[in-house]
Amino acid sequence: MKTVLVTGGLGFIGSNFIRLLLKDFSDYKVINLDAVTYAGNPENLKELESDIHYHFVHGDIGNRQLIDTLLAQEKPDIIVNFAAESHVDRSISGPAAFIETNIVGTFTQLEAFRSYCSAGNRCRFLQVSTDEVYGSLGAEGYFTETTPYSPNSPYAASKASADHLVRAYHHTYKLDTLITNCSNNYGPYQFPEKLIPLMISNALEGRSLPVYGDGKNVRDWLYVEDHCRALELVMRAADPGQTYNIGGHNEMENIALVRLLCNSLDRRLGPLPDQRPRTELITFVGDRQGHDQRYAIDAEKIKHDLNWEPQTNLAKGMEMTIDWYLDNQEWLKQVRDGSYQKYYHEMYDQR
Ligand code: NAD
Ligand code: TYD
Repeated sequence: MKTVLVTGGLGFIGSNFIRLLLKDFSDYKVINLDAVTYAGNPENLKELESDIHYHFVHGDIGNRQLIDTLLAQEKPDIIVNFAAESHVDRSISGPAAFIETNIVGTFTQLEAFRSYCSAGNRCRFLQVSTDEVYGSLGAEGYFTETTPYSPNSPYAASKASADHLVRAYHHTYKLDTLITNCSNNYGPYQFPEKLIPLMISNALEGRSLPVYGDGKNVRDWLYVEDHCRALELVMRAADPGQTYNIGGHNEMENIALVRLLCNSLDRRLGPLPDQRPRTELITFVGDRQGHDQRYAIDAEKIKHDLNWEPQTNLAKGMEMTIDWYLDNQEWLKQVRDGSYQKYYHEMYDQR
């Protein structure tokens, strides 16, 4: 049995990752440390509460004493760091929390990890990062593991900074660290402030669909389960100090993606009550400041070394994602009306 300390496991990717480890594998025990920020949703893993291989701890990755205690008590074999502020628009309007959590929080974990390893414990540290650290592409080309870092948003800069620290801890202290840089994820449990769930949620309610600029920015979309399978492979099988790009080979302009979502919802539900197709909800709004034009990943290295390839193309993944949001409208409603953390507060705040 391997013990995995997951940080940020109540968020979108972390909760999918924990579910995958505990449902599809029989040899993992998971400790989930999460600060339950606005992006942390206890409902995402409610079904695992009675699982003896799952243990939730409420806390901040910036709390050194707490991390030291967890490492000493739980003796993890692997730490997987998902905990982060993750939304580019929020990083533009208020970067401070991104510096605190993404940079200082990762540094604090690395220091605790260094001390844990120097006490003779064998452990690896996987930093879950983003392709946004590489900056923006023009019409041609792909990010590889050797593309120089050139982050543009405060979010991307904070993730790049954390990646540099992780890499330096391997180089300097010979610690067993790993970094993955992944493209845009989508799928179940994504907070509806990111493009795909925001558009689904607004389109269901007949609200306007705000597309930034001319809508021609391109993202490379990866179904979240494909990402989680790649992470499990990397943490299990990669050589110490490795970095891997993870991507979907699924590039699309934002406007095309939003139209696809609208058409799919019309097919399933019929048009809006006033008979308009949902594409008529699309509203072009002012562009994001410093908006990166295009991201695209070359994922050859992880294919070659670890035999990983995405299994879900965008058309199939989008249908599965729309299915999930249609089947989980109560989840969506609770997030939108703010009641999604109520159950958590009732359970934990009185302790
Ligand atoms: P998310 O915003 O959905 O979840 C983040 C989680 O971290 C939340 O549960 C939150 O409560 C927790 N958290 C925040 N600050 C914390 C702190 N100080 N201490 C402990 N927990 C804290 O994010 P996500 O989309 O699931 O992304 C997870 C990771 O993957 C992030 O590091 C992000 O940079 C990276 N990533 C995301 C994408 C994407 O498309 N979403 C793509 C590539 C990489
Ligand atoms: P987002 O989901 O925020 O991911 P990221 O900025 O990390 O790539 O945005 C994806 C793309 O969609 C990005 O080009 C910005 C654009 N976008 C909109 O056009 N409208 C929106 O309301 C949002 C949230 C994003």
